[in-house]
Amino acid sequence: MVSVEGQGQARAIAMYEWIKALHVIAVIAWMAGMLYLPRLFVYHCDAEVGSRQSETFKVMEWRLFKAIINPAMVVTWLAGLYLAWSAHLYVSGWFHAKFALVLLMSGVHGFFSRCVKDFAADRNTRSQKFYRIFNEVPTALMILIVVLVVVKPF
Ligand code: HEM
Repeated sequence: MVSVEGQGQARAIAMYEWIKALHVIAVIAWMAGMLYLPRLFVYHCDAEVGSRQSETFKVMEWRLFKAIINPAMVVTWLAGLYLAWSAHLYVSGWFHAKFALVLLMSGVHGFFSRCVKDFAADRNTRSQKFYRIFNEVPTALMILIVVLVVVKPF
């Protein structure tokens, strides 16, 4: 017969697995947006201010940011913090490194929010080359974060 304590433990493990699935789903949505948004900025740089194309990009950027990137980031954070807290993973070295990189990713998120507002107000001054290069920052951070959390090298 399974003890009450054993049942509680099995429930906690199941809960952990479900929250981890939610975390990974939210990460996918957040990253999809973080990788696509700077691409839109690259194309937007080519569109003349006031043109129909430029106005369409504004709507695409705004919707992607508000409807996908923002809520996905919130869910990623909440689920990730739950995982770290419930399994006491905040004591591990890999988690500290991952946390620092996730803070950087969140900083990039904040910067993209400013870019969306700048494009919306037709006051973007950054070049297409800048966005092309900056496009690689969330990619590099994502690769490092996934390696840290899966390989757990330290
Ligand atoms: C926002 C803050 C975040 C926190 C606090 C956090 C925390 C965690 C924790 C504690 C785990 C469980 C690890 C395990 O069970 O071994 C986890 C799993 C995972 N995280 Fe995060 N995470 C965050 C953001 C991210 C981001 C931005 C990415 C990717 C770019 C990511 C990718 C993953 C993946 C792929 C897993 C599953 C790993 C596995 O089961 O092997 N996380 N996260």
